[in-house]
Formats: sequence, structure tokens, C-alpha cells
Amino acid sequence: MAKLVLKKKIKDFNKVISVDGDKSISIRSLLIGSQSYGICKIKNLPKSDDILSTIDGLKKLGIKIRFKDKTCYLHGNGLNGFDYKKNIVINAGNSGTFARLLLGLLVKSSYPVKIIGDKSLSRRDFQRVTNPLKQFGARFVSKNESNLPLTISGSEYLRPINYFEKKGSAQCKSSVIFAGLNTPGKTIIKAKKSRDHTELFLRYLNIPLKIFKGKQFDKIEIIGGNQFKSFNYTIPGDMSSSAFFIVLTLLLKNSKLKIKNVNINSTRVGFIKIINKMGAKVKFIKKKKLYGEYFADICVNSQKSFKPIKCPVELNSNAIDEFLIIFLLAAKASGVSIFKKLNELDKKESPRLKLASSILKKIGVKVKLMNDNIKIYGNPNLKINKKILIKNYYKDHRIFMTSVIAAVCLGGEWVIEDMESHKSSFPSFMKILRKIGYKF
Ligand code: S3P
Repeated sequence: MAKLVLKKKIKDFNKVISVDGDKSISIRSLLIGSQSYGICKIKNLPKSDDILSTIDGLKKLGIKIRFKDKTCYLHGNGLNGFDYKKNIVINAGNSGTFARLLLGLLVKSSYPVKIIGDKSLSRRDFQRVTNPLKQFGARFVSKNESNLPLTISGSEYLRPINYFEKKGSAQCKSSVIFAGLNTPGKTIIKAKKSRDHTELFLRYLNIPLKIFKGKQFDKIEIIGGNQFKSFNYTIPGDMSSSAFFIVLTLLLKNSKLKIKNVNINSTRVGFIKIINKMGAKVKFIKKKKLYGEYFADICVNSQKSFKPIKCPVELNSNAIDEFLIIFLLAAKASGVSIFKKLNELDKKESPRLKLASSILKKIGVKVKLMNDNIKIYGNPNLKINKKILIKNYYKDHRIFMTSVIAAVCLGGEWVIEDMESHKSSFPSFMKILRKIGYKF
């Protein structure tokens, strides 16, 4: 794959941009659409690799889909309406969300389905979803208990379960909710707080699902076996993608950025809460509610200095995809920042906590990594005057994009391998950099 070479900094800008549609909501809209009956029209769907894997996988399962110019028409066959040949293999590519959530929808499947993934996905833990799905009655075959490839066989005789999700993983919670959707009776989930798009989506479609909000845990009850109608949906901008351009703007001297129509669900704004505690003044304007979700335009200006943070652990799950770019801001803060209990970060597309620590050291930042805690010794005068090579990072899209942002605002001569990696979640990333004035 191509290498990206970056040798100069970006100039100040004053721009309005839109980022690609939210990855989590996009995948959910396709999977939920596949279980509805009738034709769904989904607009602003990103042409990212994870979405293309989801569409290809659903097509193999007999769902008719037409996808053109960011609009998708999907013909739902109703609950458990997948219609496919024996011995199919679904390639989830890089997408943990697609693979784990799909397994939940396959608990009643008629023939076995084999799921495979790329090198990064094949090192990730699947026992976290196969364990609860076994309790519903699904069976799994895999060489090694916890990784892909694995084959799921559904059951005619599903039973609802009581499930306790302790990691704060929305993928585990959603996989179980999807299994509950297909299982007659009441599935009850107690889940450590995490993004709640699945619950909001199903509730918006009037599926019998109740949410009882607690301080640290939510309780979700879903009554399965009820058919529901197709829907129209427009995907909002992705907060996780916005995060890269927010931090870039903050770190420049005199720039201004507005990002239009971004999802600001309260379970996704941990990043904003963290950087605002560090002294950023990011604002939401033109707030509106649609499909049970909140959207807004995000406004941000450059700022002179940032405070270090002792990051409250209760924000971890709501900022889990943004920590790499938060660490970059911490590297420019005036003091030592501490982030704790980030073990889930090493379970992502790459071992992110370890890689972040080694990249920060490479660019001259003092870092102490102790188990799942990281201390970052910020330096407001941080500048880079040497060559930096970023490679062997499991093609993790967020490592790539964080490295690009570091390169264009801190300087130095960067060679970043596997340039295509950003397309897994944010295909317009490079185009937007160009739009705000970076000349490649
Ligand atoms: C996601 C949940 C998070 C996140 C991932 C998307 C989702 O993973 O890191 O990018 O759409 O549910 P976990 O649920 O494993 O924390």
C-alpha cells in the first residue's frame, strides 16, 4: 500500500466542513434495515471500507441493496429473513462492529455462516460476544476459542437471557440486543454505560425496548419476535472523525472551523468533555433532535494553551475512539496528564495504548506507560525537526489519521505507511485536509 510523505505544516484556515457519516450509526442502520420488512432509504452513508464490508456481507445473506452517491436502498426481508446458500463465508474486513453485531442477528440462522476478517480483526477477541450468544442457543466452531475465523450455527429453539455487560462495550451490548430482537420473550441486559445508538434506533422504530438509565449502568429490556417496518434515515456526521479536525484547529495559531451536522449523542461526547476540561472551548450550535438522536454544528477556534488533565475514568467509554488524538493534545499541554484504566484501548484495531506511547516517544514526548495507565508529560513548545517513520501499525485508521494531524501541525518529515487505512472509517479525510488548505 502507498506511503504518505509529509514535509510541511498546514497554514491557518477559516473553513466550514462536513465529515463522513457516523460509522456506528451507519452499520446499525444497515443491519437493522435488513431485519425490517419493506424498502429502507438510507442517506449520507459513507463509502468507507467498513460500510462496504457490511453491504457485501448483507448481500451474501440475501438482502438486496443498491448503493450509489451515498444513498442506499435496502430491501428488508423481515426478522431473520436472511436467505442464503450453504457454506457461505462473510468477510468482515476490518470491522469489529459489523462482525460482532452481525453474529447477534445470526442466532436463528438456518445454515452455518463462516465469518472471516483482515489481519487486525483476526487478532481481536470474539469470546466477548460468542459467550452470551451461546446462552441464547447459538453454536460456534473456531480453531481458537476467541478469534476469527469462526462459524456460527443458529438455533430454532432460542431462549431469552439475562446478560451483564461489564466492559462498557457497545458492540457486546448491541450484539446481545440483536439476538434478543430475534428471540421470543424478554431479554434483559445490565450494561456498563457505552454508546446507545442501537437502543435509540430500535426505540425510534417502536420496537418493544425499554431503557432504564442508571449512574454507571443501564438496564435494557427487549421483547423479541416482533416484525417491524422499513424506514428512511439520514446518517449524521461522525464525532470520532470530527475529533481529528477539532484538535488540528485547536493546535494551530489562528484558525477557525465549523463542522456541520454532527451526532452529539451524550454517549459520544466524552472527547469534547475531556478537551474542554483541558481548556478548549468547543461549542455546539443549531442543536436538533431527529430519530431519537441529537445533532449540532461544532464550532472551534485555535487556542494558545492547554491545561493537563487527570482524566476521569467514567469518561473512558464515551471517548474510547478519540484517545489517540486526545493524547496529541495532552502532548502540547502545559503539564503532566494522566489517563487510567484504558485496557480496552489495546483491544482495538491495533494495540493503541502501546502504539500511542511509542509514537509519542518517537516525536520527543516523555511518556510513562504502566499497565493500562498512561502519563503524558506535555510540552507546549513541542516541535519536530527530524524524520518520523510510522509503520507496522496494523493499518489502524485512527493511528494513521492521528499521525497525519501530528505531522501537519508539529512539522518534521513524516513517512506514514498504509495510506489507504483511513478509508476504513473516514474516506474523505485527505480531501478535507486539502479543502482546508493543505497542499500535498
Ligand atoms: C463501536 C463501539 C466501540 C468503538 C467502535 C464502534 C460501536 O467498540 O470502539 O469503534 O459501533 O458499537 P467497543 O464496543 O468494543 O468498545
